[in-house]
Amino acid sequence: MSRVIFPLIVVLVLIAIPILGVKVAGLHLLFGVVIPYVAFAIFILGFIWRVIYWAQSPVPFRIPTTAGQQRSLPWFKQSRWDNPFTTGEVIVRMALEVLCFRSLFRNKRIDFRQLPDGTPILRYSPTKWLWAFALLFHWSFLIILIRHIRLATVPIPGPIEFLDHLDAIFEIGLPQLYLTDLTILAGLLFLLCRRLFIPQLRYISLPADYFPLFLIISIVCSGMLMRYFLRTDIVGVKELVMGLVSFHPHAPVKDIGTIFFVHIFLVSCLFAYFPFSKLMHMGGVFLSPTRNLANNSRYKRHINPWNYPVKTHPYEEYEEEFREFMKQAGIPVEKE
Ligand code: HEM
Repeated sequence: MSRVIFPLIVVLVLIAIPILGVKVAGLHLLFGVVIPYVAFAIFILGFIWRVIYWAQSPVPFRIPTTAGQQRSLPWFKQSRWDNPFTTGEVIVRMALEVLCFRSLFRNKRIDFRQLPDGTPILRYSPTKWLWAFALLFHWSFLIILIRHIRLATVPIPGPIEFLDHLDAIFEIGLPQLYLTDLTILAGLLFLLCRRLFIPQLRYISLPADYFPLFLIISIVCSGMLMRYFLRTDIVGVKELVMGLVSFHPHAPVKDIGTIFFVHIFLVSCLFAYFPFSKLMHMGGVFLSPTRNLANNSRYKRHINPWNYPVKTHPYEEYEEEFREFMKQAGIPVEKE
């Protein structure tokens, strides 16, 4: 249980920090400018560091995960996206993975079932819930992030306006309800409940699995509070955000509302934490040799670029050297 409670307490403390810092100590500049900049710098530098570190790992062999027929004789139908042979096919495979989570779609559940006569059997069954909710969460997150561009631009670019309009297409309430606010919450709650209520998953889940979920849930909740319940001075927010993105930061207007500082502080924590966490799968998927390599080893000889000349001693030479001794010892030889 402490694996759940501990990250929850950390997130609650993170929420309390800007409330105390802004409301009690009046540190608007620190929470509105300094911390977001520092967090963003950690994010960028950390991300680059992780990518360079991974890119330095030697990949001397082609090790793509194959899940279908490889390219072979013309009368065998190749499974192009599951066993790509060309770079083009790899790109399609990668795009399907990143945009549609294809490997998760193919995920299977394994459990023991009993036949009517009591014989236990291993059963593989399709499971699409994880895929559906993971997709829902990630796409909603992306759309919300893209929509946020409106906070940093005047005038708001047409495509962002359009996305905004599309997201609030049902025109429910005022301010209008964004569908992605509901879908991201649904996705996050599913991902959390699955870890909490499936015993096998609870057993393998660590604080590092719960922490990002709690953090993102609190970012979404603080954003929704700000939009739908505790209205903030959106003009003041926009001035502040435009100052930040144009590198002409200035102290935020005091009555922006504490909830905004909570939101931006939690976002800063997420950004600073990102490069050191499992969330780096966002960058890692592109560097994964099991996904980004074409399976053409039978067609093309790949020579390890780090191979050095190895001094060999083949059997022929060995026999040449020891033939007489071998004969004396009664060991059969190839040449008399
Ligand atoms: C990980 C990044 C972020 C996430 C997941 C996130 C999430 C959200 C969500 C779910 C909302 C509710 C309304 C909506 O969907 O637009 C929201 C609102 C808001 N967010 Fe964020 N946010 C993020 C980053 C930021 C940043 C960096 C800022 C400003 C510097 C910001 C400022 C705001 C403001 C001002 C609102 C209220 C908008 C309104 O009243 O229409 N957010 N955020």
